[in-house]
Amino acid sequence: MKKRILVLYYSQSGQLRDILDSITSDIKDKAEIDYATIEPVIPYALPWKASTFFDTMPETVQHIPIAMKPLPEVIKNKDYDLVIFGYQSWFLNPSLPISSFLQSEDAQFLKGKNVLTVIGCRNMWLHGQEKVKEYFQQIGAKLVGNIVLTDTNPNLISVLTIIRWSFQGQKEASRFLPAAGVQDNDIRRASRYGMPILKHLEADKLDDLQNELLMIGAIQLKPGLIILERRGVTNFRKWSKFIRDKGGPGAPERQGRVTMFKRLLIVAIFILSPISSFTAWIQLQLQKSSLLRDVEYFKKLELVPGKF
Ligand SMILES: Cc1cc2nc3c(=O)[nH]c(=O)nc-3n(C[C@H](O)[C@H](O)[C@H](O)COP(=O)(O)O)c2cc1C
Repeated sequence: MKKRILVLYYSQSGQLRDILDSITSDIKDKAEIDYATIEPVIPYALPWKASTFFDTMPETVQHIPIAMKPLPEVIKNKDYDLVIFGYQSWFLNPSLPISSFLQSEDAQFLKGKNVLTVIGCRNMWLHGQEKVKEYFQQIGAKLVGNIVLTDTNPNLISVLTIIRWSFQGQKEASRFLPAAGVQDNDIRRASRYGMPILKHLEADKLDDLQNELLMIGAIQLKPGLIILERRGVTNFRKWSKFIRDKGGPGAPERQGRVTMFKRLLIVAIFILSPISSFTAWIQLQLQKSSLLRDVEYFKKLELVPGKF
């Protein structure tokens, strides 16, 4: 009998769906594969309005759920051998549709299921995955693998292209900048993950899956990014509280603080970023061995509290 796989995901632009299609391309006739989307009641429009984009930060960082559409009953009642769970980072956390879903009653159908996460983001996903691991632990789902696709351009270039994509809707390359998001070639090459996933599923050896996925490049992680992400998480936490003190999503009273956050982020990215990269480099030299241990940890699936 063919193995039953559910591909469950949220994607605002469709990038994550392209990644998931590529991963399943070599196995789509060899397994029974269903797709289901995680969808907010009010969709997030692309391109974003700047005011909405920055106003989404506090609730994303504090995991305050939005209203979600229900998952179809047929999906929740089917007995899947594996769930491939596709998501992205927003403000160094799982995107708000994803954290909202994971806190919803619907997510309880993941209890007892094998789940493989697929992340498609710019380049900062570590804190988000720690949060997803916590949700899976609360639900009783078993994390059996993690594949991460990022934009491999230099940090500042990927910031510029994601800004162009988010606010002007242009993903394609422009005169001075490359295309935004995960490189097309990396999306195409993600098809190499399909057969190992199916092979381990059929042999009932999912416990070994992550090691094989890592051998074929499922996670590339530069230690310097751990330092930058830790700094970002601390700052986003502070700003999210500061903004929410003035009201909930879209509240006129908090817009002054949202604008302050927007300006500070722009200054941090374009003016402080070279200084920040330099101090991160020094920190990297001083803490190399502990950061290399962290790299190994983040490539694996265990949850050790307190990494952030
Ligand atoms: C509001 C917002 C915040 C984002 N924050 C991050 C982030 O913290 N780290 C990161 O690597 N990518 C970040 N991204 C990029 C997304 O993770 C993702 O790659 C991109 O939005 C495309 O995903 P899609 O498949 O949902 O269209 C952000 C995108 C948006 C829209």
